[in-house]
Amino acid sequence: MSRILITSALPYINGVKHLGNLAGSMLPADVYARFQRARGREVLYVCATDEHGTPAELAAAAAGQDVFTYCQEQHALQHDIGRAFGLSWDWFGRSSSPQNARLTQHFANVLEDRGLIEERTDKLVYSIDDGRFLPDRYIEGTCPVCGFEKARGDQCDNCNSLLDPIDLINPYSVISGSRNLETRETRHLYLLQSRLQGEIRGWLDSKAEFSGLARSIALKHLDEGLIDRGITRDLAWGVPVTRGGQPRTGFESKVFYVWFDAPIEYIAATEEWAQANGGDWRSWWREDEGASDVRYVEFMGKDNVAFHTVSFPATIIGSGEPWKTVDLLKAFNWLNWYGGKFSTSEGRGVFMDAALEILPPDCWRWYLTANSPEHSDSAFTWEQLTAAVNRDLADVLGNFVNRILKFCDTRFEGVVPRDGEPGPLEEKLFGEVSARIADLTDQFETIEVRKAAQALRALWVLGNEYLQEGAPWTAIKTDPARAAVIVRTAINLVGLYARVSAPVIPFAAETMALAVGEAWPPVWPSTDARAELSRAPAGLKITTPPVLFRKIEEADIAAWTARFGGGD
Ligand code: MF3
Ligand code: ZN
Repeated sequence: MSRILITSALPYINGVKHLGNLAGSMLPADVYARFQRARGREVLYVCATDEHGTPAELAAAAAGQDVFTYCQEQHALQHDIGRAFGLSWDWFGRSSSPQNARLTQHFANVLEDRGLIEERTDKLVYSIDDGRFLPDRYIEGTCPVCGFEKARGDQCDNCNSLLDPIDLINPYSVISGSRNLETRETRHLYLLQSRLQGEIRGWLDSKAEFSGLARSIALKHLDEGLIDRGITRDLAWGVPVTRGGQPRTGFESKVFYVWFDAPIEYIAATEEWAQANGGDWRSWWREDEGASDVRYVEFMGKDNVAFHTVSFPATIIGSGEPWKTVDLLKAFNWLNWYGGKFSTSEGRGVFMDAALEILPPDCWRWYLTANSPEHSDSAFTWEQLTAAVNRDLADVLGNFVNRILKFCDTRFEGVVPRDGEPGPLEEKLFGEVSARIADLTDQFETIEVRKAAQALRALWVLGNEYLQEGAPWTAIKTDPARAAVIVRTAINLVGLYARVSAPVIPFAAETMALAVGEAWPPVWPSTDARAELSRAPAGLKITTPPVLFRKIEEADIAAWTARFGGGD
């Protein structure tokens, strides 16, 4: 059995994530992990909070907490909310772990030994009143490109230009608001990515499986030419800069840049997992220690692609050590919020904690999968959410499941009936179900998220069509054996639906599985529908669960629009 390593971009620690973050990395990664586990593959899905850098320090300050306590609390919160959404991480780590510090320092040392890191003198903005440098988001001012007045030191949120803090017009300190700033010289480490240009292009060319979006973003950066990258910052919170195991002279008040240590946490999180569970992390990450049979799949939003196709590869390929690199990079576009963007800093949109207050996790999981911002941006609307829940989940799947289980309960005493043999209608069903399972399996294998959702829905529809045509409620009056065949077959469809729906809607799937005595955790079906639809044997006692999916009503939408915004 091959092994599959799965990572989703590490969510920043600075607060509960919004649905866009979920839709573009953690959720599709989870769906894929669940699918592959059901296929019998050995899966390791790791994620973690991204805890360093200015986002963490600023969020802690805004919360009136020290950054250590803040990160600890927010990590626990994100962990719990992720679990409540059914995210089946094998490990949800922290980039502030000692494992990550050690590995980050290791990479920096090896890269320097290989002549790929050098110390340079930078001119950075220093705040006299705050007594410190103002890197990245610690400084704001007017964007030199578009004139937006609240551009951040590293990036303008209005025109998306990447900025250098010293180019901001009329800058001020985010800490104190002070404009009493000057430019000072400070020493920093640079990773000489320009020297790795050829190697990284060759590496990218060897990766046939990247999604089109991922490849085009990577090629754009390579075509523009890789630039050397500052990998340290004048900050207190982060991985300390060392050389040969000792604090590096002149870098005592500096740390590694958050984007240098964050992706290394994919490896470190695996080490955290191994230490907690007695696994062997090196066999997942080192080609020379068994990782050559590992298939590594990464999930992320498009803003993260350059860091994963250029910067992180530069770190691990530049080390010259045999680290595992990504085989398939699946990138996502944006989920938009009513013409604009979901925004953490402005609290715009629906956040994961609030989402669970208004609907069960499966409703969100289905909606965000069926409307995944996969090949283009997609727009969140309350109408689409309602359609996904009411039509697909309630009318198609839920109605089928509840109707047939109830019918079996009232007319067959809740026992799978024995009489009759499959006829032409069943033969037709077996053929269609076989073809649909094959299609669904393909879509999941190739991580075509929207197509997988369509294929899944098509399977659900077959059940309703079958019941409609077979009409067991009529047959039972004239031909009880015929009704028995239909009920037996339909109950088996419920078990099949539990198995194939489990990656996307695991909670409802488990309810369905338990109702008809299907194994849990689920095992992925073969394409032999005849065999797969005879697992619930005659004589089996079924249970009838309560209504699987409650419908969204107009009053709900009115209340949610009032609370979250959106709508006309
Ligand atoms: N925290 C980053 C973001 O939300 C993603 C980091 S991915 C990592 O955009 F691999 F670098 F950690
Ligand atoms: Zn701008």
